[in-house]
Amino acid sequence: MFDFTNQVVLITGAGSPNGMGRVFARDFAKLGAKVILVDINQAGVDANVKELRDAGYKADGYEANLTDEAAVKKLVADVVAADGHIDVLINNAGISQKVTVADMTLDDMKRIFNVNMFGLFLLTREVCEVMKKQKYGRIVHLSSVSGKRGGGVFGGAHYSASKAAVLGFSKNLAREVSEYGITTNCVAPGLINTHIWKSMPAEQAQKVIDTIPMGRAGEPEEVSAAVVFLASKEASYITGEEIDINGGSHMD
Ligand SMILES: NC(=O)c1ccc[n+]([C@@H]2O[C@H](COP(=O)([O-])OP(=O)(O)OC[C@H]3O[C@@H](n4cnc5c(N)ncnc54)[C@H](O)[C@@H]3O)[C@@H](O)[C@H]2O)c1
Repeated sequence: MFDFTNQVVLITGAGSPNGMGRVFARDFAKLGAKVILVDINQAGVDANVKELRDAGYKADGYEANLTDEAAVKKLVADVVAADGHIDVLINNAGISQKVTVADMTLDDMKRIFNVNMFGLFLLTREVCEVMKKQKYGRIVHLSSVSGKRGGGVFGGAHYSASKAAVLGFSKNLAREVSEYGITTNCVAPGLINTHIWKSMPAEQAQKVIDTIPMGRAGEPEEVSAAVVFLASKEASYITGEEIDINGGSHMD
């Protein structure tokens, strides 16, 4: 089970040194995939690609700003020219900002949506055309518990709204692309042990932990396991769905 040999797996937001994208890339690579790491941060992509190649895995990196429509089109064309196909898309790139609605500007709102929703849309639209021709594809989007219950960890209402938008986008897309053998699903992580969590003051961190039945943050590997499952051939009858990964902090 969960063999990605000969599959090309494109992961966005994979240039972060302590982020989830790096862990997803390693897990897919371990399972035989050629992984394509994409990020606006070229140095971060280079470092993560080097780490994978040094470990003997197949990996390429691309610098791209996902909010730039022309750059997204070029990215997909370049990957297809180099590798011929894209079997899995992991929409992981995302940004957040801690701010109340009272203090939020329209520019704040636009900036968050530009990456978390519009960038995701631009890339998904392009990759779907590749997947339709292949008559196969798996798409997994990083939503968030914040999009389901309205914040409570960090970020603002614009972040929650953008992550809720991703859930609706994925479900609608599922109706459109199922006939092409493409599935589209979300994971909705709660608090995960990445740099954002590590940078939170201890007192604030404890307050958050107190709201989690499991009494701890999740690990990126625990999100990766669900992402790999949804991206696998085995998850062939699941689409328009989301998996909560939050230690019980939100149940529905
Ligand atoms: N860390 C958590 O606790 C948590 C919880 C729920 C959901 N999430 C979501 O999971 C995803 C990954 O989270 P993370 O903590 O690993 O994040 P991260 O900040 O470590 O990584 C996000 C990456 O996205 C990249 N990025 C930002 N804007 C971009 C753009 N315009 N084009 C291309 N790349 C861009 C950044 O450079 C960064 O490397 C995000 O979508 C986040 O919202 C995270």
